[in-house]
Amino acid sequence: MAEQVVADLRDKCETPLPLLREVALAMAHEMGAGLQKEGGSRVKMLLSYVDKLPTGREEGLFYGLDLGGTNFRVLKVQLGGNQKHVVNCDSKEVSIPPQLMSGSSSELFGFIASELAKFVADEENCTNISNGKKRELGFTFSFPVKQRSVASGTLVKWTKAFSIDDAVGEDVVAKLQTAMEKQGLDMHIAALINDAVGTLAGARYYDKDVVAGIIFGTGTNAAYVEKANAIPKLEGELPRSGDMVINMEWGNFYSSHLPITEYDQELDNESLNPGEQIYEKLTSGMYLGEIVRRVLLKISLHSSIFGNMDHTKLQTHFLLRTPHISAMNHDKTPDLKIVAEKLEENLAITSTSLETRKLVVEICDIVARRAARLAAAGLAGILKKLGRDCNDQEQRSVIAIDGGLFEHYTKFREYLDITLAELLGEEASKSVAVKHADDGSGIGAALIAASQSQYCNAESDEVAAKNTYHTCRED
Ligand code: BGC
Repeated sequence: MAEQVVADLRDKCETPLPLLREVALAMAHEMGAGLQKEGGSRVKMLLSYVDKLPTGREEGLFYGLDLGGTNFRVLKVQLGGNQKHVVNCDSKEVSIPPQLMSGSSSELFGFIASELAKFVADEENCTNISNGKKRELGFTFSFPVKQRSVASGTLVKWTKAFSIDDAVGEDVVAKLQTAMEKQGLDMHIAALINDAVGTLAGARYYDKDVVAGIIFGTGTNAAYVEKANAIPKLEGELPRSGDMVINMEWGNFYSSHLPITEYDQELDNESLNPGEQIYEKLTSGMYLGEIVRRVLLKISLHSSIFGNMDHTKLQTHFLLRTPHISAMNHDKTPDLKIVAEKLEENLAITSTSLETRKLVVEICDIVARRAARLAAAGLAGILKKLGRDCNDQEQRSVIAIDGGLFEHYTKFREYLDITLAELLGEEASKSVAVKHADDGSGIGAALIAASQSQYCNAESDEVAAKNTYHTCRED
């Protein structure tokens, strides 16, 4: 019976190339539909109002605040200007008390502002904050936000493990600003960005060929640079750079080609956001461990391979986490000792045969492989939309990826690389590179704060001296 469950899972999670090609095509199609009009697609294609990315010439001290997973981070980044890049970076990571993820927005933002205030108070010297200037902060807020400008935006909905009703539809910058004022913090929020946008900015800062920033972490998302005149839903004046970074919010992508199993369906039904973020639920770190737990539960209810056990833990949602399945999937010990340990520690499964442990490894592998192959199809979709998926391209295209799943789950990363190469073919693969972008979401916010504030300064200087406008533009 256990083998039957696994065989069935293997079958339902199959992702042959023709299916992945359909997924890539659907992604490219949805991108176009989402750019066409508001609500044109489940893939929201949100405007970020970031119309130029950092160039390496930004200079000064900037702060970043990164909120989006179970931890948030505050950063202080010293930019050297003149291609000297980041000359210093201090940061502090704070875990968010779980009750704050579903409490009230004033509690969450109050907590963040108080931690930020402590960070600033601990600074040994702030010599670069001169002439009574406020500290400039870039705020990475990794949820779907409808922006009206680079420094404001209302929350469309929560994703991942967050659910704070009173924040939906509200301007998150105003919320943070109010909380900071209560703490007596004299900071100016120069930019509100998504982590995928931050990843794109952070990677582009070092490499001009970066075309997209992707997150495979607790959640998943993608951002890329679009031509402003290819965005029919963009109202008003076009940005002067002619470009606009799009926060795709591809976690909400859906296609009938996605291989969805009974476990995915149940996970979705019982989630905080049923019917939403389906692609994210198949491909991101918050969910992969949970899918495996559901498969193991089914096996334990229909077979005796786990022996006589107490099911309490195995029945607890999200108790098996993606780092656990990653550890099991990579277990190289001859008797699969790590698998035995993880099953015991996390699920109270105490006596397993080597055969059973092999089966568990296979389940982890099936789930991670499907995730990685679907992830690769998403990337291929973006390349297709950008016209960079064919072999007649001379240009190099770099895709920068950040997030714990990509960084720590080696097999996920390997399957992703292999699948993307299969989808693109040998010739086109030569001009496409997938790179790990370290810490884009934190530094990216500070970089965009820098390029925005320097752009604004340049813009106001322009009134006085018409020729300064281009000082921080990449052209
Ligand atoms: C959110 C995105 C975010 C992604 C990665 C998703 O759940 O909707 O805004 O970029 O997670 O953090």
